[in-house]
Amino acid sequence: MKRIFLTFILMTSLLLSVACVQKGNEGGTTNTGDTIKVGVFADLSGTTASFGQSTKNGIELAVEEINNSGGVLGKKIQLFVEDDQGRPEQAKTVVSKLINQDKVQAVLGEVASTNSLAAAPVAQEAKVPMITPSSTNPKVTQVGDYIFRVCFIDPFQGAVMAKYAANNLNAKTAAIFGDVQSDYSKGLSEVFKQEFAKLGGRIVSEQSYAQTDPDFKGQLTAIRATNPDVIYVPGYYGQVGIIAKQARELGMNIPLLGGDGWDSPDLWKLGGEALKNTYISNHYSVENPAPDIQSFVKAYQAKFGAKPDSLAALAYDAAKVLADALKRAGSADPQKLRDAIANTQNFNGVTGKITINAERNAVKPAVVLELNPAVNSFIYKDTIYPEGMSAPTADTNTNANSSMNMNTMTNGNMNSNMNMSMNSNAINSNAMNANTK
Ligand code: PHE
Repeated sequence: MKRIFLTFILMTSLLLSVACVQKGNEGGTTNTGDTIKVGVFADLSGTTASFGQSTKNGIELAVEEINNSGGVLGKKIQLFVEDDQGRPEQAKTVVSKLINQDKVQAVLGEVASTNSLAAAPVAQEAKVPMITPSSTNPKVTQVGDYIFRVCFIDPFQGAVMAKYAANNLNAKTAAIFGDVQSDYSKGLSEVFKQEFAKLGGRIVSEQSYAQTDPDFKGQLTAIRATNPDVIYVPGYYGQVGIIAKQARELGMNIPLLGGDGWDSPDLWKLGGEALKNTYISNHYSVENPAPDIQSFVKAYQAKFGAKPDSLAALAYDAAKVLADALKRAGSADPQKLRDAIANTQNFNGVTGKITINAERNAVKPAVVLELNPAVNSFIYKDTIYPEGMSAPTADTNTNANSSMNMNTMTNGNMNSNMNMSMNSNAINSNAMNANTK
């Protein structure tokens, strides 16, 4: 009896492990012997699931294109996708599994900085290169020399919105309403506070929320009492949609400002009309008429039936940067691959030219978008370039530049000065006003 029971247990676990391999094998190829294995970790079922879904889609499109044109190093790329449910501990667990069990040669992920920060030490320790497409908190790549990103960082993104509030919206006072559970939100709050003050603005209220808060009216009422010109809400779509709604319900019709974390098709459902008079910084505009961008948008739409948000675009770029580095490395040897990623220069991504700097970050422009809830789409307002970078001289440019000083945050301290230039015309503004669903 005992034997039968043991055999049963053995058979069940064998069956289960086969099921696991099949579940992990989502790269479209079943050949496990001769592939480049790439791990993806993302939130596919938690509170930021739309981030994970777009990221997975973007990576799958890139890998499909790469494999259809012969793969890399004579091999196809095989994806191993893991759902971390948007939880930092789970992110750490699944990245360990990808590395130790699936033996992936590189890892792509996460979106939320807190989840990337939880998993990055595992990749660093194992010396498996990790590229986060979209985590913007500076600390992520500071984990070590195997950790990279293809997006800009928050000291830049936060300063863009402080500048927009002071100069474009003429705000003299601002309130900050941040998410205490998110490194991303805490970092952006800090940057905005410093930059807005430097521009002569005054922070009149600082409130915070937890992602599990059922209601935000208490904090919003406290903010209302200070009568700010604008409120900066550097959070994720799941909360900011409701925050916008409740702010309007409390009679606050002032501009609300945010960052890339607002970008999700779900935001429109949550915020609705309350998203009028709101502005965010983001990584790219889907309306940019540049041919490279539009052919990506078309391919993505054909495959997934939706327009690619900035998560999808960054994920697509991260996978392409990885494939490019594999080609230049001439092998998937971890050290060589690491060095090749570090040497990425002027890579033509859909989110802009990608050059990995000494801190393993990409230095790229940001766009400012206004939300248009009447048609659930973003209206392009501006492209902001970091120091030393100027708008490409395309025909669509009309030249109206201004420049500003901003601080960068190194190791969590605001200490180095940099220049940032504003250019309203890298992208044809009229074309950017077209509506999207
Ligand atoms: N930048 C966010 C973070 O670091 C993640 C994000 C990127 C969300 C792009 C939406 C769009 O947490």
